[in-house]
Amino acid sequence: MATGRRKRDAGNERPVDIAESRRQGEQGAGFEIVGRQDFSDVTYLLDIDHPMMARAAKPGQFVIVIPHEHGERIPLTIADFDSRTGTVTLVVQAVGKTTQEMQRDCRVGTRLFGVTGPLGLPVEIGNAKKVVCVGGGLGVAPIFPLARAFKESGAYVIGVVGFRTRDLVFWDDRFQATCDEFIICTDDGSAGIEGRVTEGIALAMANHGDIDEVVAIGPPIMMKAVAELTRPANLKTTVSLNPIMVDGTGMCGGCRVKVGDKVLFACVDGPHFDGHQVDFDDLMNRLRRFTTEEKLATQRWSHACRRSAHEPPPSPETQV
Ligand code: FAD
Ligand code: FES
Ligand code: MG
Repeated sequence: MATGRRKRDAGNERPVDIAESRRQGEQGAGFEIVGRQDFSDVTYLLDIDHPMMARAAKPGQFVIVIPHEHGERIPLTIADFDSRTGTVTLVVQAVGKTTQEMQRDCRVGTRLFGVTGPLGLPVEIGNAKKVVCVGGGLGVAPIFPLARAFKESGAYVIGVVGFRTRDLVFWDDRFQATCDEFIICTDDGSAGIEGRVTEGIALAMANHGDIDEVVAIGPPIMMKAVAELTRPANLKTTVSLNPIMVDGTGMCGGCRVKVGDKVLFACVDGPHFDGHQVDFDDLMNRLRRFTTEEKLATQRWSHACRRSAHEPPPSPETQV
């Protein structure tokens, strides 16, 4: 929720957040976390006070977050945005050093050093009449604003989301309220139907011969499986790619992906592409490029955390 006093900009009637302008203009002191929810021991939601971003964001875009002054840059999808409250919502899976550090440190009232965006091209909503919106793992939250945008455009929306097990399920109420049909898939069958999201899509395809488009966000292996499922039916399939990104503005080349006979930059040409054209094996190989360094960074960080937990607090004499 926005904390700042608001006034109206007489010219265009867009709300101007005085506190935000002051923060950005004078202090440059980052962006306040105004909400947090933990969905499981690895997945957490952060609401960020960022009125300008909340007004500008469109479904399918992302931000680059720098958690603190010495932190690395990580891309995160804008899972939701609300121009009335001036907030953008991120849903994060703690998979390595930075996302685990954020899980520990990002509490309500603390600030993120940098939140750059909205970046990337929004998803083209178009004139599709019937759409299947698919989210698996860290793709469940980012698919929600797309399902909502398709619904608002008048499409019949079938939501398909996948989790390992019932305890990890979140936002099922939001999807139920937004989608015309909603299918949960769990690996162990503890909620919804048993199996991967491909089982849910196959069910939707069997029940509806007139689906115009499938939009899928999740781990590359999942999106590859979705693309292979829809390929024989020549069913338009859009996927959201998650290569390693650094600047997010098309300058470093880190996020290049092979799509058909082209090499494209996911941050400025995407991140949404035709799933039938994407070279997923190349994407998965490139995602593994820094595994050794990433493991080392996580080990060093958790070692430092354990050490500081065991260190006695500084004595009053040593404090300045
Ligand atoms: P590390 O141990 O450093 O890395 C773990 C794995 O994450 C790596 O093997 C690599 O595959 C990937 N990764 C590492 N650094 C980057 C990077 N700079 N850019 C992209 N991938 C990286 N995750 C979410 O939890 N929620 C989201 O909404 C979300 N949206 C994304 C949107 C886009 C456009 C992209 C490209 C990625 C998104 N990710 C999202 C993935 C997220 O950026 C990575 O999980 C995160 O950077 C891992 O950082 P780490 O230091 O915790 O883990
Ligand atoms: Fe650097 Fe895309 S992240 S070019
Ligand atoms: Mg990292």
